[in-house]
Amino acid sequence: MRTLFIAGNWKMNKTADEAVAFLSEIKDDLNAIEGIDIAVCPPALAIPAVSALLEGTKVGVGVQNMYFEESGAYTGELAPNMITPFCQYVILGHSERRQYFGETDEGVNKKINAALAHGLTPIVCCGESLEQNQSGETHAFVSSQIKGAFANMTGKEATKCVIAYEPIWAIGTGLTATVEQAGGIVGDTVRATVKEMFGDDVAQKVRIQYGGSVNEKNSAELMGHPEIDGALVGGASMKAAFVDLIKNAQ
Ligand code: PGA
Repeated sequence: MRTLFIAGNWKMNKTADEAVAFLSEIKDDLNAIEGIDIAVCPPALAIPAVSALLEGTKVGVGVQNMYFEESGAYTGELAPNMITPFCQYVILGHSERRQYFGETDEGVNKKINAALAHGLTPIVCCGESLEQNQSGETHAFVSSQIKGAFANMTGKEATKCVIAYEPIWAIGTGLTATVEQAGGIVGDTVRATVKEMFGDDVAQKVRIQYGGSVNEKNSAELMGHPEIDGALVGGASMKAAFVDLIKNAQ
């Protein structure tokens, strides 16, 4: 049995003060939810304050990106050891990072290895564009993303990762994949590729989230699919209804 894991990706939203004000309102409700792993991923500068606020609760903290080197002349980047005092999770290879900041599967692979070496749980994102979806390329593309991201890794390492399948056309658009679409790709493409690479035991252990316009109305149905082990939530994770979204998934 894989425990559901729901994480909020706030992207470039909320100052440290706004993050603390928002979480102060919902943290007791989040903390009272049992049987589901929960995390929030605020912008980096809000993380120390958020981490202090959530200390002693069951709500984890994640960062939205990380560089793979330990230190050095990499202007604007954050090293793993700067993150570990505050975070348990790191989102890697989000489609927005791939689209606007040139992230590649090869870079994501290096970042996964660095995250694991520092005891962080990577949330590795994959997902196809609308054009790829419409031209029937979803399986081949998503499978190649997984193969690139997890290249030369061991099954033991892969087991420590979370994968988020996020069709790009469903992110922030209000267009959610149907539960059949989402569950089908999570099972037949994402989990199947993990199985091909690392065997069935690893494939059965790895948690695979769905992301793309998940909200409090559709979370129950999506999380009800046996292949979908949680959600990576953008817009709906920055509203008080995030609590309902998680409760309904339960
Ligand atoms: P959304 O974003 O829930 O706003 O569609 C999901 C994501 O990008 O992780």
